[in-house]
Amino acid sequence: MQSVLSYYSRSMNSPALDIPLPYGLFAFACALGLAATIRLLLSPLRGIPGPWYANMSDAHLSYYALRFDKSRALHKLFLSYGRVVRIAPRIVMFSSASALRAIGSHPKHSMYAVFNMRGVSHTFTFLDSKSHAGRRRVVLGHWLPMNLTSHEADITHSVSQLTSYLRGSDGQTPLDALVFLRHFMVDVIFSYVLEVRVGALEALFENVTHELSDAVTDFPKEHFLRSVVPTPLWNLLKLIPHERWRRFCRAEDIMLQVAEERMRELQTTSNVDTSSLMGRMMSYASEHKGDPLSVQDIATECAVQLIAGAETTSTTASFGLWELSKRPDIVRRIREELTDHNIELNSMSGKDLHRLPYLDAFLKEVLRLYAPVPTLLMRTVPKGQHHVMIGDVEIPAGVTVGVQAWTMHRDPDAFINPEEFVPERWLAESDAQNNNFMPFGIPGVRSCIGKHLGLLSLKTIIAAVVLNFDIAPGTDTTERTMRVKDAFVALPAGQKAEFYFRPLVTEF
Ligand code: HEM
Repeated sequence: MQSVLSYYSRSMNSPALDIPLPYGLFAFACALGLAATIRLLLSPLRGIPGPWYANMSDAHLSYYALRFDKSRALHKLFLSYGRVVRIAPRIVMFSSASALRAIGSHPKHSMYAVFNMRGVSHTFTFLDSKSHAGRRRVVLGHWLPMNLTSHEADITHSVSQLTSYLRGSDGQTPLDALVFLRHFMVDVIFSYVLEVRVGALEALFENVTHELSDAVTDFPKEHFLRSVVPTPLWNLLKLIPHERWRRFCRAEDIMLQVAEERMRELQTTSNVDTSSLMGRMMSYASEHKGDPLSVQDIATECAVQLIAGAETTSTTASFGLWELSKRPDIVRRIREELTDHNIELNSMSGKDLHRLPYLDAFLKEVLRLYAPVPTLLMRTVPKGQHHVMIGDVEIPAGVTVGVQAWTMHRDPDAFINPEEFVPERWLAESDAQNNNFMPFGIPGVRSCIGKHLGLLSLKTIIAAVVLNFDIAPGTDTTERTMRVKDAFVALPAGQKAEFYFRPLVTEF
């Protein structure tokens, strides 16, 4: 029998096939074109409009992601092709309120597994509905509005630290909202999840960035990069000997270690206090022995809740301050509403902040134009079903479907002059606006679990700033630096959001 090697050496010795380069390129292009045509003709998605290259590959999606511009790039496709677009051989994205609801019932796409922590799934990443429902049931109660009052004193304490910090600059030095608000949220969320005061804002008084504040912002970005950079290259990049970069790559370990350490502490306590999420989960685990919830599950779940809440809320509030720094008219109106309702800093409670329609409208408008998760949220039509109907489009099992806040929030049929920042649009009831609004994700079982804490924190931050300061953009803070970039979570292009905070002469 002829060996493969001898065949190979024989073929190497045969005369070279002498094809001129232009012909070779032409043949290659024809082959690609033929492959695309066959795929297009045979694909059950062939009737769905989209760019020609989407029939062949999804490489362009990684390219958009690496430019941190995916939601904008996909938005352009909607503008060109309509409300249903095939963006890759097996991915179809939608932009309509009815599709939004239909998509919400399907399981998350397998890409979410990239956010697992040391391979362990959690509320955010469970793909199968049963595991997800079981975990969500345990966690959800902790974040209901009636339970949030349990740590209101911690929020009030952090608010007074925040205003002291801002007053310290005396309006002379611009301060980066992304940094101090993340520190604020780390203090708030750690008290809810682990019942510890980590003192992140205190560190900032000493001009020290708290390690946990870096870790909560590094984690999603590190996992996002890991998901788009090929693994061998990523393993090489991780070896770069730069202290900050190494810490960036260790964000997952840092967050898990802090949760595990707290868990060891609580395990030595005879009566675990259930007012923290960790305490609640530990007590659930001891009462439901048949329902497996391991030590690792609890630590992982708590770590992910800390991460999910800090970055989203602080980024949204930073973009809110950006709008306020340009719009003294809005500042005046919020201030008037707060003083009319006798809201004072040291007595601010969730209940008081519920009764403020203009502040609500302002925050909705911030969440509309600066949704902290603007990107395509992907779900997969489960195998086992032949197909499902999304709107009037037939989608076969196994195909990925998605919808993104960036586009839903800029739909001119729902929002008049969608690119303009107009809080007043929320003062009148509008079904069209409400049905397209998805800053907390796809409505339904996978929507944000921490929505109420997120909103309470946003209201508290904005009220505290508006009652005490006039805000102006920092010298280097411009439309260009504040342009939204999309790294799964939103961030300003300049990676900073600096403002001057000028203390008001009359304090409210
Ligand atoms: C302004 C604040 C916030 C915004 C805009 C926001 C937004 C979102 C969005 C868009 C999703 C869905 C993501 C997806 O489907 O891929 C989500 C899910 C989630 N969020 Fe938030 N979030 C905020 C605050 C919080 C807070 C404070 C916490 C925790 C304390 C939290 C915990 C979670 C969790 C655990 C999930 C996964 C829920 C599930 O799949 O069942 N979020 N959030």
